Amino acid sequence: MLIVIVMYVLGIETSCDETSAAVLNDGKIKSNIISSQLVHQQYGGIVPELASRAHQRLIVPVVDEALQAAGIKKHQLGGVAVTYGPGLMGALLVGLSFAKAVAYGLKIPFIGINHMEAHMYSNFIDDPKPDYPFLCLIVSGGHTQLVYVTEPLHHQLLGETLDDAAGEAYDKVAKMLGLGFPGGPIIDKLAKEGNPNFIKFPRTYLNADSYDFSFSGIKTSVLYWLKDNNLYYSNPIPTMPGQISNQLLIDICASFQAAMVDMLVEKTQRAVKNLKVKNVAIAGGVSANSELRLRLQTCADINSFRLFIPDFQYCTDNGAMIAQLGWMKLKVGIKSDSSLNAVPNLSLSSHP
Ligand code: KG4
Ligand code: ZN
Repeated sequence: MLIVIVMYVLGIETSCDETSAAVLNDGKIKSNIISSQLVHQQYGGIVPELASRAHQRLIVPVVDEALQAAGIKKHQLGGVAVTYGPGLMGALLVGLSFAKAVAYGLKIPFIGINHMEAHMYSNFIDDPKPDYPFLCLIVSGGHTQLVYVTEPLHHQLLGETLDDAAGEAYDKVAKMLGLGFPGGPIIDKLAKEGNPNFIKFPRTYLNADSYDFSFSGIKTSVLYWLKDNNLYYSNPIPTMPGQISNQLLIDICASFQAAMVDMLVEKTQRAVKNLKVKNVAIAGGVSANSELRLRLQTCADINSFRLFIPDFQYCTDNGAMIAQLGWMKLKVGIKSDSSLNAVPNLSLSSHP
């Protein structure tokens, strides 16, 4: 195997609504700058065209800040890693074009990174790191996947959501409740004060040997519960806080969160038992969820497996995980051709 020494790697992430750049030096993250686009909040979801424009405006200052925070000049970079999918086409193209230009200008290698694979390897940024093989539950705004990572850079997709992603369910339910966007962190915060047994929302487990997920049922159940209780006004806008009493709101959030976490933990536990894994990692925006972290840790203590959870800044979209996986690939000689295009629906099994 060709071993290449790459000291400084720049990681760039622009797949959705975070413009982020990070610098890694020999396996250690030196800076991780994340600019979250607030422009989408007023629309209750991401507006692709606005995301592309914001990335264009932010990419140069964010990369400059990442270099400055790492204390290096751009000519010191040894490689550039960038997300090329999955994500929004226009948003991906901003980061990809920028990374190609940097690599071409500095005559250094560049590598296209699969965003979901990078989420998995966010668990390798800090110590302790998982031992191989390990199981990874990736829970983000666009994906929910259970992956078996057999050895470095090799994995097998065990199951994924058949409809909505976990984060998407959080965001949609938050919208129904008139809460802001993104909904995950808001529901998580409110749920802490509420009664998780207030409403018994349905849990969808599919068949006994399935590692797939389905979250559209719970989303619809919340909607019908609100409608049945005259608490949902879709026209002109969903329920606003104040129309639902505060106590009711926190109880609905707690009940919804309890059902979501039950489904995620049950599938993970099933895979742990069947595959007899001793190391489990979680990744993606929803891995920031307090109840999911707590419940999985309890499950780990009972079932004697080690649980790995990335630091909060590496759960949601960030350049550090792109730099991390980029470095792991570049150092074993894997790089991309300058003809690499953005792939909005890139699957986890694709390689550049
Ligand atoms: O990984 P990520 O930043 O972007 C994608 O790749 O999609 O994930 C964003 C998702 C959003 O749906 C957001 O609501 C959710 O992660 N999220 C959370 C929490 N923090 C972020 N969901 C539940 N609890 C949280 N604390
Ligand atoms: Zn993500």
